Amino acid sequence: MSLGDAAHLEGKNIVVTGAGNGIGRAIALACAAEGANVVVADYGVSIDGSNPSSDVPDAVVAEIAATGGTAIAVAGDVSEMAVGQRIVDAAVDNWGTVDGVVCVAGIVRERMLFNMSEEEFDQVVGVHLKGHFTLYKAASAVMRKQETGGSLIGFTSGAFVASTAQANYSAAKGGIVSLTRSAAFALKKYGINANCIAPAAMTRMSENVPFEIEAGSPEAIAPLAVWLMSDMARDVTAQIYTCTGKRIAVWNQPLEIRHMWADDGEAFTVEEIANKLPATIGDEEMPMFADLDRRMKEMAEAQSSAGVNSGA
Ligand SMILES: NC(=O)c1ccc[n+]([C@@H]2O[C@H](COP(=O)([O-])OP(=O)(O)OC[C@H]3O[C@@H](n4cnc5c(N)ncnc54)[C@H](O)[C@@H]3O)[C@@H](O)[C@H]2O)c1
Repeated sequence: MSLGDAAHLEGKNIVVTGAGNGIGRAIALACAAEGANVVVADYGVSIDGSNPSSDVPDAVVAEIAATGGTAIAVAGDVSEMAVGQRIVDAAVDNWGTVDGVVCVAGIVRERMLFNMSEEEFDQVVGVHLKGHFTLYKAASAVMRKQETGGSLIGFTSGAFVASTAQANYSAAKGGIVSLTRSAAFALKKYGINANCIAPAAMTRMSENVPFEIEAGSPEAIAPLAVWLMSDMARDVTAQIYTCTGKRIAVWNQPLEIRHMWADDGEAFTVEEIANKLPATIGDEEMPMFADLDRRMKEMAEAQSSAGVNSGA
C-alpha cells in the first residue's frame, strides 16, 4: 500500500486504541508514517478479551520507532474511564494536544441470544461501546479548547444492522453509530468531526466468520482513517463509511419515510392502527432477511465441520 509522498498528518497527535493488532496496528503505523505522533493503546488481549499483555502495544511502538516514527504505548482496558483518560493524557502530556482519536479496540463473544450470558453481553458492549465513550469524553474535553478542533473515529461494523449470533456485538456497534452521530452533532461548533468506519479486513477477528466476506488487508483500511483525520476532511462529519480496502461506501442517514395522523388529532386507537397502518404507511422489510437462510446454513456447516456444539 502506498500512502503517497505527502505527510497528511504532520504535527498531529493521534490516539489509536486496539493498536496492538489487526486494523488498529495498521492505522497506528500509517499515522506515524504520515508524520503524526501516535499513542498506541491496547490491552493486548485475545479475541475474546482474555490474557492481557502490555508486550502487545510495546511491540507496535518498537515497530514505529524502527521506521523513525514517534509513538508511546499505553496498556489498559478501554472500557474503564480512568484508562480512557490515561490514553488521552499520554498524548497531551507528551506533545501538548490530541488531534485525532481512532477507537479500534474490540472483542467478540459469539452466542445465540437465548444462550448469551450477562457477562458475554456486558463485556462486549463494555469494550466496544463504552470503550468509545471513555475516549470520546476525555478527548473532546481537550479538543473543544483547542483552536484546531479534532477528529473522532469510531469503529462500527456492517453487523450493526443485525447479526445472527452476535446480538451483543451488533448492539454495541449500533450504539457506536448513535454515539458518534451524537458527538458529531454536539461537537460541530468546536471544530470536531466524528465519523464511523465499518471495516472488512482479514484479521484474527474476521478469520472465523462462518460465511464469505469481502475483505482486504488491515493496511487497506488505514488511508480512510488518515483522510478523515487530515485537514482535507475537516467538514466531513456524522458519516458511516464501509471500507473493504478496494471499496468504500457511504451509509444512508436514518430518517422517517412515511407517516399517518390519528383521526381525532390526538391519539390512535388499536383498531384505527389495525385498519389504517398496513395500507397507509405499512412496514419495511429488513434487507438482510433476504440473506438469512444462506447465513444460517453456512454458520451451521462451519460449526459442524469445526465440531462445535456450543449453542452459539
Ligand atoms: N476485521 C474485520 O473484518 C472487522 C469487521 C467489522 C468490524 N471490525 C472492527 O474493527 C475493529 C478492529 O478489529 P480487528 O479485526 O483488527 O481485531 P483484532 O482482534 O485484530 O484487534 C483488536 C485489538 O483490540 C485490542 N483490545 C481488545 N479489547 C481491548 C480493551 N478492552 N482495551 C484495549 N484494547 C483492547 C486487542 O488487544 C487487539 O489488539 C474492532 O472494533 C472490530 O469490531 C472488524
